[in-house]
Amino acid sequence: MTAELIDGKAYAARVREKVRERVAALSAETGQSPGLAVVLVGQDPASEVYVRSKGKQALEAGMKSFEHRLPANTREAELLELIERLNEDPLVHGILVQLPLPAHLDPRQVINTISPVKDVDGFHTTNVGMVGTGQDAIVPCTPLGCMMMLRHYHDDFRGKTALVIGHSNVVGKPMGRLLLNADCTVMVAHKSSTNIPELARLADIVVVAAGVPGLVKADWIKPGATVIDVGINRIPAPEKGEGKHRLVGDVDFENVRKVAGAITPVPGGVGPMTIACLLANTLSAYCHLHQLPDEPLLLDEQDPS
Ligand code: GUN
Repeated sequence: MTAELIDGKAYAARVREKVRERVAALSAETGQSPGLAVVLVGQDPASEVYVRSKGKQALEAGMKSFEHRLPANTREAELLELIERLNEDPLVHGILVQLPLPAHLDPRQVINTISPVKDVDGFHTTNVGMVGTGQDAIVPCTPLGCMMMLRHYHDDFRGKTALVIGHSNVVGKPMGRLLLNADCTVMVAHKSSTNIPELARLADIVVVAAGVPGLVKADWIKPGATVIDVGINRIPAPEKGEGKHRLVGDVDFENVRKVAGAITPVPGGVGPMTIACLLANTLSAYCHLHQLPDEPLLLDEQDPS
């Protein structure tokens, strides 16, 4: 068997297009477009790339983009004041503070200062608690993107078993919650788990966000399982020339694809869905703040398969 490739790039393009169409229609109705504020503290090179991309894609979707770049030595009080101003700003519907923050800033305090209705990352304790108790709330972008892709292969999660590898607040924990909310039987493994291969062999769905290149091996995978690889690891690629690198996921892709039923590649799998879902969350926040109906952005029959 060779697994079907889950084309995250094509899914993400479709999500962005749906968001763009809805933004155009709603902006014409209300006279105001959704606004996304992105705050970057310091000059982490990877964060710079993400922030630029978030701003660019927001503009392409017809939204307003507000970028706030603060020096690495910004005091916490200053950052919290900025967030409070953005909370009050009627032009801003979504607020995102790029992580990681410099070490002297407390990410929990910073995130919990964002108004939960503008927390388009879904990281605020209120949103985490609401998702945890199965209520409608803003859902973190990467797990939301994974769920959108998984729904294409599993229209019913009942009776299915999933293994999530990694228990970060950004991916693993919310991913486990979303699958559980869909009545999937969920296992969450992490770096202290001792039996991950055995757990994986039970799983119809494996989602891995461990940050370990090639961690998931072919003999861990139940034939026909759906494998979602959230990992993005930059490893040396001497075959491309001296000092060159390439991106790989947390799955031994070339071997796992011979066993799995469907699999996301890296790059071009989960990655593009994250910003597409950020735009979808910003649109939802705008609808909520303007008391407009917020139709779920589920993918439909025109989606790539
Ligand atoms: N850093 C890496 N991923 C993310 C994300 O999804 N949101 C924020 N705010 N920071 C990140």
